[in-house]
Amino acid sequence: TGALAGKHMLVTAGPTHEPIDPVRYIANRSSGKQGFAIAAAAARMGARVTLVAGPVTLPTPPGVTRVDVESAREMAAAVAAALPADVAVMVAAVADWRVATEAGQKLKKDGSGAVPPLHLTENPDILARLGASPERPRLLVGFAAETENVVTHAKAKLARKGADWIVANDVSGDVMGGHLNAVHIVRAEGVESLPEMPKDAVAAALVERIADALS
Ligand code: PMT
Repeated sequence: TGALAGKHMLVTAGPTHEPIDPVRYIANRSSGKQGFAIAAAAARMGARVTLVAGPVTLPTPPGVTRVDVESAREMAAAVAAALPADVAVMVAAVADWRVATEAGQKLKKDGSGAVPPLHLTENPDILARLGASPERPRLLVGFAAETENVVTHAKAKLARKGADWIVANDVSGDVMGGHLNAVHIVRAEGVESLPEMPKDAVAAALVERIADALS
């Protein structure tokens, strides 16, 4: 039993790795800590939790079903396969771009000093797809990592991505990889700003609000 008993929560967490060649990739500094803490908090409140995780070095929280992926495209497929869900919380720092053509062999220096061009192409937007999907969860929560104008940018994302809430955080400090986070929960009705606290406490506060919204 628990406030989320009988509910299925889908959580994405961590970075994605976008391959350049068999030994190199493009990535970002997400550690997965915030997303894993949310999955753990939801499982403690009785939810069935599917955690789609990019490449991170964290243990799977008790009671959580984990699906490991590497790239944004793999994450998109794993999210689609995990539906339906009552609520989805998209915490992953999905790479916006990938290398257009992955090299089949390791890129080599040819001695001339020439550098290989990296042509990028856009990745699927997993949150926006879910927002427009016939299988859209009843409650769809996105995150927004910003380095300036945090709440203004988050409000724009709320509309653009078809989410119900956007949890905005300022990642200009050491939020990515760190232990603490300060978030603003942006809804159509208004913005609730929480003080800086451990990511576990951010997770507990958010999951409590999710349980209220679903009840
Ligand atoms: O992992 P930690 O070290 O604990 O750090 C936590 C965090 C800073 C990564 C996390 O709190 C956070 O802010 N996650 C969102 C990071 C992000 O990529 O934000 P964004 O503004 O680029 O994306 C907005 C939303 O769209 C996010 O919900 C993201 O998951 C989603 N998205 C983005 C791009 C894409 N191609 N597909 C997506 O689904």
